[in-house]
Amino acid sequence: MRVAMIGTGYVGLVSGTCFSDFGHHVTCIDKDVGKIERLNRGEIPIYEPGLDDLVRRNVEAGRLDFATDLTQAVKEAEVVFIAVGTPSRRGDGHADLSYVHAAAREIAQVAEGFTVVVTKSTVPVGTGTDLEHIIREAAPEADIAVVSNPEFLREGAAIEDFKRPDRVVIGTTDPRAREVMAALYRPLSLNAAPILFTERNTSELIKYASNAFLAMKITFINEMADLCEKVGGNVQEVARGIGLDGRIGSKFLHAGPGYGGSCFPKDTLALMRTAQEAGSPVRLIETVTTVNETRKAAMGRKVLEALDVPPRGATVAVLGLTFKPNTDDMRDSPAINIVQSLVDRGVTVRAYDPEGMHEARKVLPPSVIYTSGAYECAEGADCLVIVTEWDAFRALDLDRLKSVLKSPTVVDLRNIYPPVDLISRGFKYTGIGRGHPSSPGE
Ligand code: UDX
Repeated sequence: MRVAMIGTGYVGLVSGTCFSDFGHHVTCIDKDVGKIERLNRGEIPIYEPGLDDLVRRNVEAGRLDFATDLTQAVKEAEVVFIAVGTPSRRGDGHADLSYVHAAAREIAQVAEGFTVVVTKSTVPVGTGTDLEHIIREAAPEADIAVVSNPEFLREGAAIEDFKRPDRVVIGTTDPRAREVMAALYRPLSLNAAPILFTERNTSELIKYASNAFLAMKITFINEMADLCEKVGGNVQEVARGIGLDGRIGSKFLHAGPGYGGSCFPKDTLALMRTAQEAGSPVRLIETVTTVNETRKAAMGRKVLEALDVPPRGATVAVLGLTFKPNTDDMRDSPAINIVQSLVDRGVTVRAYDPEGMHEARKVLPPSVIYTSGAYECAEGADCLVIVTEWDAFRALDLDRLKSVLKSPTVVDLRNIYPPVDLISRGFKYTGIGRGHPSSPGE
């Protein structure tokens, strides 16, 4: 099949590349000339494990190419994906759909023959219907079906998630579109991925409901962690204990500094706005977003409390800056709040992240000192804070760490170390939700 993918951001580039790996012919399109030139030279604009090899392999096989103009690719395509950004609109939190609308208009004007236009971008319920109107206005003769097909991939595990999804959701009631989409995803049926066909509005809602539910699950365990710290208890054991109940499930129950990233903060906000305007507010999610924001601010205070010296003049080493490991994405990362609150109190911040320092420089205060590795970062610091659980931080040489730190204080906001490992070496250790003195740790 011939596929056009409009937008080579995270979702567009990963999905386009994976579709080409299935054997379809895919053209990825972006208005950013520089980006397309870089992709044509084989340079991948984002960090995603395995993506560079996959792009190279499919380009060499002649199944994947890149273009700045959509005309040719859309003319030839049976399926055109819209995977452009839907950022939060300033002021009201609604998803900004201007790029999605513009893409639909352009597609309508050049499409030939029956064409399925698919929204891959996360779009609010009702967008598919709006796009149908836009397309009908722009090209009344065009034979186009608009389908919703939300993407659930996680950054850092995107290729695996695309190829072995828990489910594929396709929102359409058009029988021709359904047939085309079933053929497009046929290679996945070999991996036994269930394909759920629904009505379009429902499909659009599923995406927001999924992300909101996951954000809620994380926020729940984060509040349990706070409670554990107050009353004595180990949040990791609470998570395991509840997660073994199949109705709850064990995933997404890691307590931490609060969720971040390009999806949860933006999608929860957009769902809230949609629900408020529909007169059916999602109060749970409204609370979740408030609790998460408060939590990110509280993490800076947690670090300040762990310091044995006054903040002004103290040095804190921050390990991990991205919102999670295996990405260079800094969007809504808890590290932003933490570093800012430390700097505001006069702390000197040294920082290290395996992939995120380029992006971090754009959003962190200019006074942050970037270092070349974990031990360099810890050099002379009064406290070491682990903000993101990169594998590279999981097995640090603790004796070496102690010898380079000025004061052996560690705040582990991801609970990647058993407290006993550090405490037995003379560290002062603070984790998340397992700080009670009567708790033996593990
Ligand atoms: C998320 C959804 O998982 C994905 O389905 C959707 O398509 C896009 O949004 P992503 O933002 O890439 O994916 O990352 P994810 O792994 O879900 O983590 C999001 C945030 O939650 C991170 O800040 C992470 O650190 C945090 N998190 C996740 C926790 O604090 N605890 C957990 O147990 C899981």
